[in-house]
Amino acid sequence: MAAHKILITRRVPPPAVEVLKNAGCAVDLVDQDDPPSREELLRRVPGVAGMITMLSERIDAALLDAAGPSLRVVANFAVGFDNIDLETCKQRGVRVTNTPDVLTDATADLAWTLILATARRAVEGDRLVRAGKWTGWAPMQFLGLQLSGATLGLVGAGRIGTAVGLRSLGFNMHVLYVDGQPCAELEQRVHAQRVVLPELLQAADVVSLHVPLTPQTRHLIGAPQLAAMKPTAILINTSRGPVVDEAALVEALRERRIAGAGFDVYEHEPRLTPGLTDLPSVVLLPHLGSGTTATRQKMSQMTAENVLAVLQGREPPNPVV
Ligand code: DGY
Repeated sequence: MAAHKILITRRVPPPAVEVLKNAGCAVDLVDQDDPPSREELLRRVPGVAGMITMLSERIDAALLDAAGPSLRVVANFAVGFDNIDLETCKQRGVRVTNTPDVLTDATADLAWTLILATARRAVEGDRLVRAGKWTGWAPMQFLGLQLSGATLGLVGAGRIGTAVGLRSLGFNMHVLYVDGQPCAELEQRVHAQRVVLPELLQAADVVSLHVPLTPQTRHLIGAPQLAAMKPTAILINTSRGPVVDEAALVEALRERRIAGAGFDVYEHEPRLTPGLTDLPSVVLLPHLGSGTTATRQKMSQMTAENVLAVLQGREPPNPVV
């Protein structure tokens, strides 16, 4: 029997390639850090049995057509899977998997990196020092938001939202959250209160987004929601860019209707909404949420295990469909 051909659409940490090669698969690795063009993907996909894909690749009917009937599994190298047309995969019997759990801590840590950096204006301060413009300590310089005792508002209390909430313990914060389900862990461990979004927006000093991107969450935070926030509050997004209407965000920041924003993801990623980089009060990271060596190794291993499980006729460990 011919070896299964597996396309990996980007350079990834070693485990995926090793695990697949050891199992006798023929691995076609797109050996680069930049996303391959759509044409390149369409050119390389015919005849594959499995794909390990990144969040920036659109997995739709046209790509599945190009792959042909040999394709049995798409293992997304991410916990999110809004880049994949799940319905079409399901109809064609193509399994889809993701990488939950292993990136929860790394992403929660990164959310806190943004919370602290934005609240305490760390990047603005760094820029001043680097530019050689710092003239010394001053009582009114870069005054920020005190996190101790402040209110943290979590929009979404799934795995990552919960981990962000639990990390607030050291800051003695009051925690509010919005979710379709009560979260016992947050309520018991940090005495969090479940509220509705308008209540959270009005009360929170830090609004942190942790929802998946769905038709219901697209532009969940737009002009009316930004207007409902406190003028001293900050908005943190480590979920998916289109959850925020970025044009409305730029406007709100320009008019100082909120104090700042810390973003790891963008509405038109990797393009930035005009005006965003002109605002001193935003901290902008390049989608680093899961970016620790240990986490990316685990994600790599998981994707390969999911691919192999499907090809060997077993239930994959992390099925989406
Ligand atoms: C995910 O996993 O969905 C992140 O955005 C990338 O790790």
